[in-house]
Amino acid sequence: MYLQKRSRILRATPAIRSLVAETILRPSDFIAPLFIDEGKGVKTEISSMKGYYRMSVDLTVAEVKELWSVGVKSVLLFVKAADDTKDNTGREAWNPDGLMQRAIKAIRDAVPEMYVMTDVALDPYSSYGHDGIVVDGEIVNDETVEALVKMSVSHAKAGAHMVAPSDMMDGRIGAIRKGLEDNGFTRTGIMAYSAKYASCFYGPFRDALDSAPGFGDKKTYQMDYANRTEAVKEALQDVEEGADIVMVKPALSYLDIIRDVKNTVHVPVSAYNISGEYAMVKAAAEKGWIDENKAIIEMLTSMKRAGSDLIATYFAKDAARLIAG
Ligand code: PBG
Repeated sequence: MYLQKRSRILRATPAIRSLVAETILRPSDFIAPLFIDEGKGVKTEISSMKGYYRMSVDLTVAEVKELWSVGVKSVLLFVKAADDTKDNTGREAWNPDGLMQRAIKAIRDAVPEMYVMTDVALDPYSSYGHDGIVVDGEIVNDETVEALVKMSVSHAKAGAHMVAPSDMMDGRIGAIRKGLEDNGFTRTGIMAYSAKYASCFYGPFRDALDSAPGFGDKKTYQMDYANRTEAVKEALQDVEEGADIVMVKPALSYLDIIRDVKNTVHVPVSAYNISGEYAMVKAAAEKGWIDENKAIIEMLTSMKRAGSDLIATYFAKDAARLIAG
């Protein structure tokens, strides 16, 4: 058979495949999310996230050193606030001696090169488990934004390089940028969760922080997964308001959104390979139904191919090691 063009020529050996590979993962593409707990020597496995732990600050610091040693250059911090600090104002979120603030300082002291990002949202501190302040059953926008500004400034003061608002309130990026400027934090970045969808795949994360909403759901602030154009609108608006990086979350069911956003904005795009995506891989691998290591690399590659420059992933350490071979 005569063929003018044979596509298999470029697939014939590992060498030629690697020569023409369009997407290459690097350890520095990853942001490692970390769950931080009070105490000392505390390491608790999250029941729905096998192999992932909530750790006290001392053990978190050891983990950060290990991440740095495998080439991961950024961490994203989440805290499990003690129950008696939770209320409907979120004020523990800007306590200068709060768990988050202590964790930031400890990590900055121990591994000064590590780029420290922090989650900004009220849910770990909310007695209602919502990302904002609740008035008459409603998650109110403007009062919440004021709280998020205080929280962001407090993280910057403690040494965070970049704050990552994950709450989806309107106007918070502009307000946080102004708050940082007004307080002299001209070098603190903002990674906006611009297109964060109301997703069932956050379940394991809410187990990790004991932060499930006490009533209702998050659909009045997080996006409807039926929508695509709206994600582009949100990303453009956040860039306009001063976001340095925009994020799409979750990642796996939202690769089309990642590409749309990537094609539209002129800032780096991040994806969040979330808890439910991690849990699915772990559960199927445990049953012997998929090859875990191959699944990790294929999923992360698909996210980068879709257009994410950065990927927040619970597989950061594993993937960095796999890439190194
Ligand atoms: C809350 C927040 C959530 C995640 C990150 N920040 C959960 C939620 O919105 O309920 C999810 C992360 C994950 O599932 O891995 N501000």
